[in-house]
Amino acid sequence: MTVQTIRGFRDILPPQSCVFTALENAALEVFSLYGYRELRIPTVEMRELYVKSTGETTDIVEKEMYSFSDAGGRTLALRPEGTPGVARAYIENKLHGTDPRRKFFYIGKMFRAERPQAGRYREFEQIGVEYFGNPHPAADAEVIALNAHILRHAGVKQFSVDINSLGCAKCRPVYRQQLIDFLNSRKDSLCESCKKRIETNPLRALDCKTDGPALSKDAPLQQFCPECAEHFSLVQTLLKDTGTEFAVNRNVVRGLDYYSRTVFEFRSSLLGAQDAISGGGRYDALLGSMGGPEVPAVGWAFGADRVVALLEKDAKVDDAPEVFIVSMDAATHEPAFKLIAQLREAGVRADGGAFAQKMNAQMKAADRCGAKFAVIIGSNEIEKSAAALKNLKTGEQKEVAFAALADAIKAARQGI
Ligand code: HAM
Repeated sequence: MTVQTIRGFRDILPPQSCVFTALENAALEVFSLYGYRELRIPTVEMRELYVKSTGETTDIVEKEMYSFSDAGGRTLALRPEGTPGVARAYIENKLHGTDPRRKFFYIGKMFRAERPQAGRYREFEQIGVEYFGNPHPAADAEVIALNAHILRHAGVKQFSVDINSLGCAKCRPVYRQQLIDFLNSRKDSLCESCKKRIETNPLRALDCKTDGPALSKDAPLQQFCPECAEHFSLVQTLLKDTGTEFAVNRNVVRGLDYYSRTVFEFRSSLLGAQDAISGGGRYDALLGSMGGPEVPAVGWAFGADRVVALLEKDAKVDDAPEVFIVSMDAATHEPAFKLIAQLREAGVRADGGAFAQKMNAQMKAADRCGAKFAVIIGSNEIEKSAAALKNLKTGEQKEVAFAALADAIKAARQGI
């Protein structure tokens, strides 16, 4: 038996891997426009970090975390999400320093032992941001607009943005009690998990895959304190100013514990059951609760695998070699190899070197890899320091000096 990948884990092969790279590059371009810089955090952290921040009674911590003990007896976990690690790094490295306002992005693998299905993996990639130190609604509006900007820039055409507010430590307890009363009045019809949630985490019942949809229809709506009402209203005004389309959806509660005030989700109806592209929100109390400074924060993460699934339908990643160099016989292998190296140095996507094969087989390899041009190097060509540049699609060819090959191939890019 050969060893195979684990359920829910997968190899990402070209051309799909090229769509991931294109998405990451698009995100990097937009991050720089908004002033976000990369923070690289470990893949493994103390399990306790997630219990205390993601939340002990969340599905992620309760059911989906890959936890294990290491040889030193520490209880560790593979990161199920990026926010707790970034918050820990901010506190541990005293990044609040002279100005607590710091903006970070991260790109990396996350791990959740969920039941795998289309769009849901046990190892998946998140691209995320965390904006620290700005309590103003301008930060909420900025991160939501940034998320939409990246998706548009990457080529995602269809998505919706739903926003909501969860209130704060002042107005949420009143709502919590109303929700407990409401859930108790329906206790008999609730699933076992939701029955438990009444006491531990009533808000989460609205997010339950079984009971959530029916409960959300009838549950009381949260009333906000004046500060939260004003914050939410300003988020909407500023978000409109960015030109981002969105809807207020009071059913968005999110599945993690640390949120207060603004929460949001990006969805695409083209994705089927796993339609959540991205989720995030404000978490003003998290850093303080972790023993750090009282620094407010807001952020999101999107599932790169899901965005790639959307892009794959019409992504045109052009990464085939522009030219494939064929060598006629043993005497020309070395000069042909040197020419490939020179073309690459000159910025041309050049391939070749399949010298274990005869000339005809090398030509077939050129065709198969999708190269635009082929150049055959024989002793005649070496003597003249020039060769025929053959367009493999049209069959046209013209003689070009070696020294002018790179420019001729580059000119063909623009169709000159
Ligand atoms: P989350 O909603 O748990 O939020 O995950 C964000 C996104 O990750 C989801 O919308 C989805 O696209 C993707 N995702 C989650 N689980 C899977 C899976 N099993 N397979 C494929 N994709 C998946 C967070 O993780 C928060 N840390 C976001 C955040 C940042 N909030 C504030 N800052």
